[in-house]
Amino acid sequence: MRALSATNKYLLRYKWHFLGGVLFVALSTLLAIFPAQIVRYAFDLVSEGIDLYHLYAGTSAQSSVYSLFGRNVLLYGIIIVTMALLRGIFLFFMRQTLIVMSRHIENDQKNEIYQHYQALPLSFYRRHSTGDLMSRISEDVGRVRMYFGPAIMYFLQLVLLFVLIVPLMFMVNVKLTIYTLLPLPILSISIFYINNLIERKSDEIQRSLASMTTFVQEAFSGIRVLKSFVREENSHHQFAVASDNYREKALSLNFVNSLFFPLILFLVGLSTIVTVWIGGQEVIRGTITTGSIAEFLIYVNLLTWPVTALGWTSSLVQRAEASQARINEFMQQQTDVVSRQNVELDIQGDIVFDHVSFTYPDTGIQALHDVSFRIRPGQTLAVIGNTGSGKTTIAALLSRLYDVSSGTIRVDGVDVRDLSLRALRSQIGYVPQDVFLFSDSIRNNINFGLDEPDEARMLQAAKDANVYENIMRFPEGFDTKVGERGITLSGGQKQRVSIARALVKEPKIMILDDALSAVDTNTENAILNSLQRIMHNRTSLIISHRVSSVKLADLILVLDDGTIVQHGTHEDLMREEGGLYRALYERQLQSEDAA
Ligand SMILES: Nc1ncnc2c1ncn2[C@@H]1O[C@H](COP(=O)(O)OP(=O)(O)OP(=O)(O)O)[C@@H](O)[C@H]1O
Ligand SMILES: [Mg+2]
Repeated sequence: MRALSATNKYLLRYKWHFLGGVLFVALSTLLAIFPAQIVRYAFDLVSEGIDLYHLYAGTSAQSSVYSLFGRNVLLYGIIIVTMALLRGIFLFFMRQTLIVMSRHIENDQKNEIYQHYQALPLSFYRRHSTGDLMSRISEDVGRVRMYFGPAIMYFLQLVLLFVLIVPLMFMVNVKLTIYTLLPLPILSISIFYINNLIERKSDEIQRSLASMTTFVQEAFSGIRVLKSFVREENSHHQFAVASDNYREKALSLNFVNSLFFPLILFLVGLSTIVTVWIGGQEVIRGTITTGSIAEFLIYVNLLTWPVTALGWTSSLVQRAEASQARINEFMQQQTDVVSRQNVELDIQGDIVFDHVSFTYPDTGIQALHDVSFRIRPGQTLAVIGNTGSGKTTIAALLSRLYDVSSGTIRVDGVDVRDLSLRALRSQIGYVPQDVFLFSDSIRNNINFGLDEPDEARMLQAAKDANVYENIMRFPEGFDTKVGERGITLSGGQKQRVSIARALVKEPKIMILDDALSAVDTNTENAILNSLQRIMHNRTSLIISHRVSSVKLADLILVLDDGTIVQHGTHEDLMREEGGLYRALYERQLQSEDAA
């Protein structure tokens, strides 16, 4: 139970639910036990009554004996029914406290995990698959909930029942008690094993289903490729195999499930037979009355379910423990990207890279070697270079998605590690290389970074990103949904929506990472022109493969394999015979001519 001790704080938080639950479990248990005693009185009364009735045979007292007993039995009946009703009410409140508590805890825990996930660094997301993240926040949390809900509830019930019933039984007859209780541990243990088996098989089914879902999803999102390569048959064959696998697992689970109830009924039946058999012998010997047999039979019935539940709850707790251990593993991970000083700053846009080197922690690839440069407010810096030369890495370091391995990055003279993350990132407009839009309306996608969207600002951003005309041509304009179940934007349209999303923030630093790669040269020029207008007293960092995107910049860095090999303006760099920049320029000029 070591992992689960991390969840004690929730019990503390919902202590009133928990204590209320304990109270209602106790009350409902008491109300289950009293009727058993009343049944014994009633039985004994009836057997005495029959004797008495026969004794007074033929006298006038006989009918009054009859009505007296009749009234008493009726009274007992009414008491039993009333208790059953009250018990029902308490059982209702037991669920309303304990199960409700478990749902609250489930909700709290999910939110905590989600919030924690978001704080974790990008390297964490590279190490763990989305499926893993999802299963911990849904399935594992669900299993922990089973511990707080049913497991605690039935365990409390079991303990109280045992504590109250077993002494009562012993008081009536020791031998009968021992014989009656004997089959119950066997019941409990076998249920524990069967339940583990069932859960294991259910997990297998779950996994099989998940892989089938993934397969189907891939097949349908890749339907164009599938059809054009004429792979329908092959794909169906693969599906049939996955589906067969699922069927096998489901049948095997059904087999175990089919054994489950017969086994319970058999063991319960055994207890009943033992009670009647041994009890009958005791009655003959005169140590107990027939009423006691009835009482015991009720006890056995009362104990059966909790004892069954004990096996079940132990396996629930075991699984909850394993799940909580998996949750703890993630919750204990800390992000190393934190602010040292939390400096809040209105950024002007003076950016300095001072002998910056960077090695990706999880691959060990050194992406930048000793990179130094300075951009002043209002200037545009362009970075050009071959693929894999480290351009995106510069952008990632500036927005502090990673921390430098050595050297420093300063914004307005402050080390970025001292700036508050929120202050830094909220003043940067980042257009990432791989455009990602949410399955939502274009309006919400553009306004994504704003707490309070402003219509006029959004329209202006769309115009500056040169996507306004495109959007207005859609029947629903800005309310057009993109992505799944929505319209599919072209590559260039997506890029421009992504640029508008960055512009609408009115950032102090704008980073365009290859954000013009999918637009034609005319659109590129239009966007660059509006950028120059908007960013005239702010700083822009333009990353590109294409000379056409960078030639207007105040300073151009040419990166090769993580090192700055050239820097200067377009004119400077063009003059450097045999330089990489000129080679790039000529290569691109040729391909444009060819096109
Ligand atoms: N998240 C990452 N984890 C580990 N290594 C990475 C990661 N991202 C990039 N790299 C490596 O760092 C190097 C520089 O990559 P980077 O993405 O900065 O190149 P780039 O210049 O942006 O290339 P491109 O023009 O293709 O976008 C590459 O060798 C790449 O393999
Ligand atoms: Mg890149």
